[in-house]
Amino acid sequence: MRTMDTGEPRAGAKGRGRSQGIAALSALLSSLIVGFGLVYFYFIYPVARAGPAQPVPFSHRLHVDVKEIDCRFCHSTVERAPNAGLPAAEKCLFCHNHIITEHEVIQNLRGYVERGEPIPWVKVTYLPDHVYFSHQQHVRSGIDCARCHGDVEQMDRVYEENRLLMGFCVECHRGQTESELPLLDCVTCHQ
Ligand code: HEC
Ligand code: HEC
Ligand code: HEC
Ligand code: HEC
Ligand code: HEC
Repeated sequence: MRTMDTGEPRAGAKGRGRSQGIAALSALLSSLIVGFGLVYFYFIYPVARAGPAQPVPFSHRLHVDVKEIDCRFCHSTVERAPNAGLPAAEKCLFCHNHIITEHEVIQNLRGYVERGEPIPWVKVTYLPDHVYFSHQQHVRSGIDCARCHGDVEQMDRVYEENRLLMGFCVECHRGQTESELPLLDCVTCHQ
């Protein structure tokens, strides 16, 4: 949109200068918007969908979907503690002492074990400190992992499919009419 032909008598030099100014401004604005859109979709959006890079690359899609390893093998406290737990490198080596032992990632994994260093996995899902959450009760009630975490088994790099905001928790709790627990009381989640 370079000119704004209103069909009115020609404006004086001053008016023309102003409409050129507006045209320049709107051109600048639209290129900023397009530019931001490009930056967003090419850099920010795909990275967000792929989740943060991990110190040791690990694919849920390969291990869970293709190799059919159960979630609980690695997240072994999910049914009996607040935290699901993340696997120690030794657990990976349970298989990888025998499978693709020369793979660069597996060598790197062995390095952590030899140095006695835990793998500094980057957290994806988190709640603020003022919220109390425990896996145990939820998993035992038969709620599927995917309900909160999305389709992890299709992810090569875990990302947060749902931001677990208060409304998300409360919406489901409101439907739990059979429960004896005060699931909607503030202190149930804010202790
Ligand atoms: C129950 C057995 C088992 C466990 C436990 C296991 N893996 Fe694997 N992993 C496999 C199998 C099977 C393959 C496929 C090997 C192949 O391609 O021949 C594999 C492949 C891989 C690959 C290669 C992927 C590629 O694209 O080349 C990496 C890296 C890997 N695993 C990392 C890990 C890490 C890190 C852990 C621990 C968090 C882990 N694995 C735990 C069985 C396991
Ligand atoms: C072979 C081991 C293994 C199996 C099986 C496995 N995971 Fe994981 N999981 C990991 C490792 C290692 C991480 C940390 C690195 C990462 O995020 O990829 C992780 C991270 C996660 C996270 C992100 C944690 C965070 O920081 O918020 C979720 C959610 C998760 N797993 C869910 C699942 C679910 C659901 C299943 C079953 C469908 C499953 N995992 C099966 C090893 C495993
Ligand atoms: C009702 C929602 C919900 C369900 C169902 C659920 N999770 Fe989670 N999960 C969370 C929340 C919320 C966090 C973050 C906790 C925090 O930061 O305090 C989390 C964190 C995790 C983590 C990060 C490490 C940890 O110990 O906190 C892993 C791994 C994980 N979940 C795996 C699983 C697996 C596997 C299942 C199914 C067996 C599952 N979750 C079911 C809500 C859920
Ligand atoms: C899909 C449904 C669902 C979602 C989503 C959900 N909950 Fe729950 N929650 C339940 C059920 C079912 C129970 C167990 C009720 C019972 O045992 O009677 C429960 C119990 C609880 C309890 C009390 C028992 C305990 O573990 O101490 C807390 C606290 C809690 N939820 C917090 C949360 C928080 C925080 C979130 C969001 C991050 C959340 N819930 C999301 C269904 C859900
Ligand atoms: C089922 C669990 C649950 C219940 C019940 C609950 N909250 Fe929350 N609340 C949350 C979660 C989860 C967050 C964190 C949202 C986020 O990540 O920012 C939160 C955040 C908040 C915040 C911080 C601001 C915000 O919106 O993030 C306030 C304030 C708050 N809650 C007040 C309350 C009050 C008051 C009640 C009682 C009427 C209540 N909550 C009941 C789960 C709950």
